[in-house]
Amino acid sequence: MRHLISPLDFSVEELDTLMNVANDIENNPDKYAHACEGKKLATLFYEASTRTRLSHEAAMLNLGGSVLGFSSADSSSAAKGESVADTIRTVSCYADIAAMRHPKEGAPLVASKYSSIPVINAGDGGHQHPTQTLTDLLTIRSLKGRINNLTIGLCGDLKFGRTVHSLIYALSRYEGIEFYLISPKELRLPDYIKEDVLDKKNIKYKEVIRIEEALPELDFLYMTRVQKERFFNEDDYIRMKDFYILDAEKMAKAPEEMYVLHPLPRVNEISIEVDNDPRAAYFKQAQYGVYIRMALILNLLNITV
Ligand code: CP
Repeated sequence: MRHLISPLDFSVEELDTLMNVANDIENNPDKYAHACEGKKLATLFYEASTRTRLSHEAAMLNLGGSVLGFSSADSSSAAKGESVADTIRTVSCYADIAAMRHPKEGAPLVASKYSSIPVINAGDGGHQHPTQTLTDLLTIRSLKGRINNLTIGLCGDLKFGRTVHSLIYALSRYEGIEFYLISPKELRLPDYIKEDVLDKKNIKYKEVIRIEEALPELDFLYMTRVQKERFFNEDDYIRMKDFYILDAEKMAKAPEEMYVLHPLPRVNEISIEVDNDPRAAYFKQAQYGVYIRMALILNLLNITV
């Protein structure tokens, strides 16, 4: 039995296959409409979500399966003190596969040790968000036709942003990737990620504070929200929250063929005037999230269509 806990759990070749299935799902959705008939997905969300929970649910429903679960810790027996281990043992009796989001780093990994069904990490604290990474890779490949030889700007809260952490690990396995790490000093990428992946793999990167410094060089600009829920101090959040606002004036300095991605939700970091720019790809990205999660569910349940 296989789980998805880390963005490195699938090889580059396996990711390619997964993305090919996702593209086929996009083009031939009817072919997959009954693939998971009789199967159930449990969504165990101890932390707020719109896209990740609903896109997992939409994915399973599109495959002809059904869904059950909870959308906050308060509405589960976690509120009475139940452990993640006991919850997943119980859910293993009710469902065929589970997606778990948890505010504590490592909780889905713990769940996977006690589970008798595949567990998908749907985001654990400030650590990883591997299904967002699958979504991001599919979006990048679909928009540019490749994942190699790209310059990617990661902008915003690089300290707490788990989508960025997972994406760096995943992209570091592709040839010719370069990063611009765009953040205020206080929200820089943690040293352990720089040492563990960027330095170890000799990946070219530049840390800059001003977004304008990076813009002309980029193939993709990946914006992120300042992660309010991970701050220990409200004043620090207020000071940081509007540090970056991508607007039409800044977009005018970006290359014609540079796409803007964002895992969403956005707060103020992308002005709504950018939404009509043909380079704004974040809602398309949310759509790709359904196709790749459909492909992932099929893979983890060992179902071929
Ligand atoms: N991208 C993402 O994780 O969004 P949600 O928090 O809405 O699931």
